[in-house]
Amino acid sequence: MCIDSNIKVENRILPNRIVVQPMEGCDCLENGSPSEVTAAKYMRFATIGAAVIWFEACAVCSEGRANPHQMQITEDNLEVFRSLLHDMRETSLQKFGYAPLMLLQLTHSGRQSIHPIIAYNNALYEKTRPVPRDSIVSDEYLDNLPEAFVSAAQRAFRAGFDGVDVKCCHGYLFQELLSAYTREGRYGGSFENRIRAFVNCYRAVRRAFPANFIVASRIGFSDVIPKPYGFGTTEEGIIDLTEAKLLLKILHESGLNFVNVTIGNPYYNPHVNRPFRVGMYRASENPAVSLQRFIDVERELKKSFPDICFVGSGMSYYRENLMEKAEELIAEGVCDLVGFGRECIAYPQFYEDYLSGKYDSSKSCVACSKCTILMRNNRVSGCATFNEYYKNIYREALACKK
Ligand SMILES: Cc1cc2nc3c(=O)[nH]c(=O)nc-3n(C[C@H](O)[C@H](O)[C@H](O)COP(=O)(O)O)c2cc1C
Repeated sequence: MCIDSNIKVENRILPNRIVVQPMEGCDCLENGSPSEVTAAKYMRFATIGAAVIWFEACAVCSEGRANPHQMQITEDNLEVFRSLLHDMRETSLQKFGYAPLMLLQLTHSGRQSIHPIIAYNNALYEKTRPVPRDSIVSDEYLDNLPEAFVSAAQRAFRAGFDGVDVKCCHGYLFQELLSAYTREGRYGGSFENRIRAFVNCYRAVRRAFPANFIVASRIGFSDVIPKPYGFGTTEEGIIDLTEAKLLLKILHESGLNFVNVTIGNPYYNPHVNRPFRVGMYRASENPAVSLQRFIDVERELKKSFPDICFVGSGMSYYRENLMEKAEELIAEGVCDLVGFGRECIAYPQFYEDYLSGKYDSSKSCVACSKCTILMRNNRVSGCATFNEYYKNIYREALACKK
């Protein structure tokens, strides 16, 4: 077994290769504070036995929130985070003898903010959802973003997080800037300009902390959307990691050693990031193609940057083969840790059951993505297939639609 073997991440030895992926629950209070529902979810995560719990998207400023219930860490709610982290560590220590590494994902939602703040007008995205030109973010606003990220990271540090993630994926502000080929000014056009906002923020946050505070990043290495509408893809829609690798080299030289790999844009091509097994959504490709694409990207990145510690994503589809696949990816050196998203909300005992030989695939995530449907309908999100609380919310949401 590889999955339960130790691994060194930055200056720490982690007890296994399991990562709870960031999963936004839209369940925080309006002031961004974890609610009772949020706390209960994270307490369940603390019983998984994972080496890392990667907290969901947490907005660095109010205008960068994707919904009124998105997480946001402020001076007023810092103590709530501190107390939650304490309880999670205690629970995990008591149950497993170790506490998970806990990272907070810092985000600016950009185009997905309550009032969209976009990098440029993107004809593909805006076919059905036009966005006025005056929603394009100014260079001056981007100049000031490092300050917002550093302040949020300082609050995370004081609350007791082990580190933060400067997020650049899934079409949110930094990711969208990576494909701002048509944007004018200091943040558009050339490669140097398109990566400027993300790299500046990453460097500012890294510089603000001692080395033992982890500054990781979840990066979307390809939108899998043809250039010039997406990053990391040719005009023909084929993945091209040339620029993505250059970006990673620059970040690695700036201190980035822990990377959570992702691809695709959940608002445009969700099957790329989380293939569907059941449900209404019809993907334009076979899930096997989406899964293999993910693995190919991870393998290429690990081969090019053997010193970086990579978390692999897009696992929950595997269901009955989930743990065998995770073992295989670690054994083959495709990634160093394996991230589980939907599986953690569907079947929080999956890892414990696997270790004790009782893994039950009938309890595993069915990859229906009802969790996302809840989110898109402005509801609290969770597993609407296996968890009664979220099942009821899903039923209510459907009833309201009729
Ligand atoms: C309801 C929901 C919320 C999500 N929230 C986040 C998030 O806050 N940050 C992020 O980077 N990814 C987010 N994701 C993506 C997941 O972290 C993960 O990459 C994706 O679900 C694929 O992994 P899986 O097949 O194990 O679920 C979310 C996915 C879902 C379904």
